[in-house]
Amino acid sequence: MKTLVLKINPRKIDSKKIDLAAEEIKKGHLVAFPTETVYGLGADAYNEGAIKKIFQVKGRPYYDPLIVHIAKPDELQKLAREIPPIAWVLAETYWPGPLTLVVKKSNSISSLVTAGLDTVAVRMPANRIALSLIQKAQTPLVAPSANLFGRTSPTQVQHVLEDLDGKVEVIIDGGETRIGVESTVLDITVEPVQILRAGGISLEKLRKVINQVALNQELESGFRSPGRLKSHYSPRAKLILVEKRGEEEIKEVSNLASHYTKLGYKVGIMAKEENKERYKDFNIKILGKGNRPASCATNLFKTLRNFDQEGFEIIIAEGLEEKGLGLAIMERLRKASADKIS
Ligand code: TXA
Ligand code: MG
Repeated sequence: MKTLVLKINPRKIDSKKIDLAAEEIKKGHLVAFPTETVYGLGADAYNEGAIKKIFQVKGRPYYDPLIVHIAKPDELQKLAREIPPIAWVLAETYWPGPLTLVVKKSNSISSLVTAGLDTVAVRMPANRIALSLIQKAQTPLVAPSANLFGRTSPTQVQHVLEDLDGKVEVIIDGGETRIGVESTVLDITVEPVQILRAGGISLEKLRKVINQVALNQELESGFRSPGRLKSHYSPRAKLILVEKRGEEEIKEVSNLASHYTKLGYKVGIMAKEENKERYKDFNIKILGKGNRPASCATNLFKTLRNFDQEGFEIIIAEGLEEKGLGLAIMERLRKASADKIS
């Protein structure tokens, strides 16, 4: 299949190109598009044939449910039932934005979308291209991240092309995504509400609106979700995450880097800006400043893909404090490092 790449400027949207992409959605085809978090691979949420194609193209198992993307908060009514009042408070505060709400599903939603669950995950993205596409297609879009299953999520069009060129009808190039990590998945069918996946809306921000927010327990130890899989977001290289602070962190990272270099591996260090002078003997990439986790989030997946592209075999990663987007970053680094080293 020849993939059509449509370049669209998010500040000056070319409606002809959006129309073209929307027509493809209506035909049951797949369109990759930017959101504020990462690129998504979109299909008509009411077309089972198209939904199946998403799983096939990504190599994603059918037990991993999809997020439904809407262009107006009201559209939640059609997708869900028994919507708790907190849904509207959260929607008012954080939509459009990187917050996905898990609510009880209505009958209109196929169990293919929800992997047989009685709940559905819904969000309204804060990206003008995404919103225009949903509006023009006149249907909500299911959209997982536009990467092959298990790989790091795409934050720019080159990443989408690496994984999906020739496999989908359209890829929209809308530049680099702003946030860089996926949305926070929040289950509001339980009390207290529970974060299933840390993401673009931080725990601190949620706690401003809701008194009690629980962290998924396995998540606190770095496991479960997305798709209840332990290993995820993986670069091709083996990733080793060092969860120490201060001098201990630097010592451990240096020791590991020396060890694997001596064994003949091509080793890279992913470090915080403030520590960059400390690893002079090694190949290093900077994630960002430790006290600015939002900028680290923007760089995270891109940096991991860059290590891969340059043929690194081992990545030794420094950790971050689990504040703000630091929580989402650490969750992803722990998953990326799971089961990778013997
Ligand atoms: O930022 C994002 O959320 C991006 C952009 C494209 O919107 N999408 C994304 O989708 O990350 P995906 O498919 O890669 O991740 C969806 C996550 C998975 O962890 C899935 O298990 C969870 O949402 N999920 C979906 N439906 C669910 C449900 N009914 N209950 C619990 N978790 C659900
Ligand atoms: Mg994903």
